[in-house]
Amino acid sequence: MMNLYLNKLFNLENKVAVVIGGGGHLCSEMARGFAYVGCKVAILDLRLEKAKSVENELRAAGFDNIMSIAIDVAQKQDHLNALDQILSHFGALDILINGAGINGPTPFLELSLEEWYAILDSQLTGTFLGCQVFGGYMVKQSKGSIINISSASAGPPLSKAFTYSVAKAGIKNLTQNLGREWGSQGVRVNALRPGFFPTDWNRKNFITPEREAAILTHTPMARYGVPSELIGAVLWLASDASGFVTGSEVAVDGGFSCMSI
Ligand SMILES: NC(=O)c1ccc[n+]([C@@H]2O[C@H](COP(=O)([O-])OP(=O)(O)OC[C@H]3O[C@@H](n4cnc5c(N)ncnc54)[C@H](O)[C@@H]3O)[C@@H](O)[C@H]2O)c1
Repeated sequence: MMNLYLNKLFNLENKVAVVIGGGGHLCSEMARGFAYVGCKVAILDLRLEKAKSVENELRAAGFDNIMSIAIDVAQKQDHLNALDQILSHFGALDILINGAGINGPTPFLELSLEEWYAILDSQLTGTFLGCQVFGGYMVKQSKGSIINISSASAGPPLSKAFTYSVAKAGIKNLTQNLGREWGSQGVRVNALRPGFFPTDWNRKNFITPEREAAILTHTPMARYGVPSELIGAVLWLASDASGFVTGSEVAVDGGFSCMSI
């Protein structure tokens, strides 16, 4: 009885989920989560081989409705091409995750314009274009759920992540603005705010022993997150269980954002 109730509330069977950045650490887990609950999943990434490797793993586990597409999220034409391919292959679009992007630890006074634009393009412009192209289609069909990926850096900003923090604050702001804009049009736009889920790259470029101590003492749960801990919130935001939720930022961060002293 309980399972029937839960299944109805969170049902995502046969929905089409597009996961941009789906070859990466966090979004590959989101692609798995969508596949496990019965979605058809399009995995989009700049590095097609990373998307393909998630696709192959899911196919080996018995999931057939998976496709991979190469995309540079800073290019509008790439979004348009991907939307076309997904519609011809799956015939529908229900859910979008905007989760691609890069970061950089360069000190503020040494930041080059090149790095500034590279981070803003992959994070903020990519999320803008994902919302415009895929969200535009959702508005036409009067249904859809978009989940943008914010960060603890969206504000107050984290040290060592200047451009990234500006981008994430922009993504949070865009999410709120589109929640307002599309609230009565059947399309919900929310943001997920992960705390610290270190990738190998983060560990190499950001996390010194001192920084790790600072992060963990500022995290009430005193540990890092693991990607599977994002899935409950993602499935909730994607499904009708969150039908009255839009423009929100949902923190999954072990309490990092509620901590002061
Ligand atoms: N890992 C964390 O602790 C953490 C915390 C908060 C937010 N985030 C955010 O979560 C998202 C995923 O991060 P992650 O930690 O899994 O990192 P990741 O590097 O493993 O994944 C990011 C993916 O984006 C792809 N990508 C980069 N530039 C692209 C472009 N121009 N076009 C298309 N794809 C591109 C990469 O190939 C990669 O597969 C990012 O938006 C990141 O800012 C991560």
